[in-house]
Amino acid sequence: MSGLLSGKRALIQGVANRFSLCWGIAEAMAREGAEVCLTYQNERLRKGVEDCAATLPGAITLPLDLQQDEQVEAVAHALQERWGKMDALVVGAAFARQEELEGEFIKVSREGFHLALDVSCYGLVAMTRACRSLLAEADGASVLTLTYIASERVVPNYNIMAVAKAALEASVRYLANDLGPENIRVNAISAGPVRTAAASGVKGVGGMIGEVAERSPLRRKTDRMQIGDVAAFLASDLARGITGETVFVDNGFHILGM
Ligand SMILES: NC(=O)c1ccc[n+]([C@@H]2O[C@H](COP(=O)([O-])OP(=O)(O)OC[C@H]3O[C@@H](n4cnc5c(N)ncnc54)[C@H](O)[C@@H]3O)[C@@H](O)[C@H]2O)c1
Repeated sequence: MSGLLSGKRALIQGVANRFSLCWGIAEAMAREGAEVCLTYQNERLRKGVEDCAATLPGAITLPLDLQQDEQVEAVAHALQERWGKMDALVVGAAFARQEELEGEFIKVSREGFHLALDVSCYGLVAMTRACRSLLAEADGASVLTLTYIASERVVPNYNIMAVAKAALEASVRYLANDLGPENIRVNAISAGPVRTAAASGVKGVGGMIGEVAERSPLRRKTDRMQIGDVAAFLASDLARGITGETVFVDNGFHILGM
């Protein structure tokens, strides 16, 4: 198959089920000819991720909990053996305690703060570091993560997740600066709200999705294939001049002042 990503190999972390934004990314990258590896966080999610992978030619799956350093290393090692290079790395994990995704931000606990930042920000740094030599073997590699506008503007109930996303976006810039000399680009997509397992943890997200669709310049909802298509572009050589960037895929909602 020939496509934008033909001959490329992509590790995609962050698929929980067929509604996941990272599943849209996997579908788009596979459609464009990439060979993909999906990871599953735990045994509970394994079957769903394997069922998704089974629909993509040649896709493989590996276990990966980003809080487990040995699993991070094991995934990089397995793909070193199997692929010898990595053209694209997608890190899509986000997690915060349910009780910290409602009410006042000021109530956030120390443990809740650490947990959200560990999974939702440090996970990108740890994975990128573990895969660095594999990424450097590709002829221009792309690292990608997913963020949300609550990092810049106050969105009710995002609280600690918004703070984690702000740290994630800053990490994207620092990683881009570190890895640019190795021809590795690092970017984020800032997605509009989409109904997924993670999004449903934020109180009131359902109403927000409809309101954003009504008011956004393009008057439509964000969906996972809008995200997937931009991810495929960012992983491709067409985006070779873009790094350290947060690209909004939200049908224009972020440009509104009122
Ligand atoms: N859905 C939205 O509205 C929206 C908007 C902007 C950004 N995002 C971001 O997109 C990304 C994907 O989320 P989604 O909405 O597709 O939801 P999702 O629930 O489908 O995906 C979240 C993923 O994070 C993984 N995860 C959580 N803790 C982990 C850990 N310790 N180790 C490994 N994986 C872990 C889960 O297994 C799951 O695959 C997240 O970073 C989210 O913040 C989502």
